[in-house]
Amino acid sequence: MTVTRIDVDAGGSYPVLVGQGLLGQLPELLGPRAEKVLVIHPRALRTTGETVRDDLRTLGLDAIVAEIPDAEEAKHIQVAAFCWQVLGQSDFTRTDAIITLGGGAVSDLGGFVAATWLRGISVIHIPTTVLGMVDASIGGKTGINTAEGKNLVGSFHAPAGVLVDLDTLRTLPEHELFTGLAEVVKTGFIADPAILDLVAEHSKAEIAEVDGPVLRELIERSIAVKADVVSTDFKESGRREILNYGHTLGHAIEHKERYQWRHGAAVSVGMVFAAEVAAMVKNLPTEVVDLHRELLSKLGLPTGYRADVWPQLLETMKRDKKARGSMLRMVLLSDIAAPATVEIPDVSILHTAYQEIGEESPRVPLGGDLGLRAK
Ligand code: GLY
Repeated sequence: MTVTRIDVDAGGSYPVLVGQGLLGQLPELLGPRAEKVLVIHPRALRTTGETVRDDLRTLGLDAIVAEIPDAEEAKHIQVAAFCWQVLGQSDFTRTDAIITLGGGAVSDLGGFVAATWLRGISVIHIPTTVLGMVDASIGGKTGINTAEGKNLVGSFHAPAGVLVDLDTLRTLPEHELFTGLAEVVKTGFIADPAILDLVAEHSKAEIAEVDGPVLRELIERSIAVKADVVSTDFKESGRREILNYGHTLGHAIEHKERYQWRHGAAVSVGMVFAAEVAAMVKNLPTEVVDLHRELLSKLGLPTGYRADVWPQLLETMKRDKKARGSMLRMVLLSDIAAPATVEIPDVSILHTAYQEIGEESPRVPLGGDLGLRAK
């Protein structure tokens, strides 16, 4: 199986390697100076985490694991403090390294620990979700959540490398795979129409095939776009904002759902909303708005949300922006692959757009396990 290498130049140069059975590439990425390695993994990946640790030991490295909570529970200051304690008690020096194994929450937390230990040590990400592969592990954003909000504390800390081993997707629940693909479709709309063609031309089963060519091409194309965007705007002073397409309403839905919805499911609704806004303010052709619904529904992703909660969603969107010291801004398309950040002076436009996606009854998106919500 061939290995694809995509280079990133954002806060340092590093490769993203895509393929299968890639763990053998770790020593080269770690470099000759690392003696100790901390593998940070969530509870759900205990067996894989221990396998990685044992492989590293076989290679002569002093490897240990730190098991942390699953998903967003990981992004807590107490979890970071636990990792700092492990590093301190094991005498990790500046030349030692961290490996994160897991989804976006693990690379966010592990990247933050690496960025802060001794003012910055090496980190290598091994993402095990589609979302982690195409988004969270690339670009050096790290962070934890506080009582005041998500990702308010963090830093930009580029990894030494990213290993995208498609074999890790074999055990990923199907709804995780498809919600991760929402970010892939996002990348298609903002920058790479070939992604949209691939989704349109193949069946859901073909797209989900871990050993098939479609999923690999979708992932590689998305990584290439992300690598290019962050390489031109590492600290998000301009172009990187396009990666937030669909996230303005998406974040508000996640907040409303108390983070029980998958990020990609919320972004899916957010993209349809953004397309409806763009139809009004950027003359986005109706066919492109329709294409959003067609492709996202094909993947089983939600394209609408509760009509009755608009005032709460608007409040959250305004608060989110206030926390970042700006007006309500959205990434909007004037066509496929033609995104721009637009300030929204008149929120009545948003209300009109929301009426196009508002649904009468609450829905449970993708996977019965998401029906945990308190209503
Ligand atoms: N997830 C968006 C970014 O990395 O900028």
